[in-house]
Amino acid sequence: MTQILGIDVGATGIKGALVDIEQGELISDRVKYKTPKPATPDAMMEVMKKLVEDFEWQEKVIGIGFPAIIKDGHTESASNIHKSWKGYNLIKEARKRFSDKTFLINDADAAGISEMRYGLGRKYLDKVAILLTLGTGIGSAIFNEGELLPNTELGHLKFKSSVAEKYASNSAREGKDLSWKEWAKELNEVLNHINFLFSPDVFILGGGISKKFDNYEEHLDLKEKVFPAESRNNAGIIGAALHAYMKSQ
Ligand code: BGC
Repeated sequence: MTQILGIDVGATGIKGALVDIEQGELISDRVKYKTPKPATPDAMMEVMKKLVEDFEWQEKVIGIGFPAIIKDGHTESASNIHKSWKGYNLIKEARKRFSDKTFLINDADAAGISEMRYGLGRKYLDKVAILLTLGTGIGSAIFNEGELLPNTELGHLKFKSSVAEKYASNSAREGKDLSWKEWAKELNEVLNHINFLFSPDVFILGGGISKKFDNYEEHLDLKEKVFPAESRNNAGIIGAALHAYMKSQ
């Protein structure tokens, strides 16, 4: 069995578990720490280190999914984390501090590749699929015939007086104390817009709120093509591990 440590870094929590790559399943307890505030590189690296030290496994391959644009191992944006993450050489620091077999991918891209390999995405390998994670921000992963276009950042589409994630993320729902119906109205606007731009065959919704799909399904417009992620909130961890596996081969 190939075991890899998957870490899903979020603006609210940092989660990790050992993943069985053949099955795409967690094979350890999931460990979760709060993301420190302010969420600076040093503070977050400390928490990630603590998390890595919670696990014992053979190969020491680690996959990190991180909530920013990822280019050449650097974090190139910082929306819900400290601005000093912009331009940070995360791959270098992680390899120095955790394991030289650490690999990095955007968190939504990670959740996306997990769903395409092990989840609902398997039905859409010859189509256009868009996964959106609705958490603190909104992350996106676009697939054409199973191929990922990385770093798409659809949560930052201009929307009303700001960007989509400020209205349709789960934190927007909580922060503004919206009912499911009120929040679904915002989400519908975002989904309809993305639907017009990309004509996907399916939208897969990930992030913590995918577990609560029953609460808002009835309020959605594009019912025939919007579904919750099959691996629910673990897609980010599993996908980060899968990406590391593919890169380490
Ligand atoms: C970030 C994305 C990330 C998403 C979900 C956004 O604010 O810009 O890179 O994928 O949040 O965490």
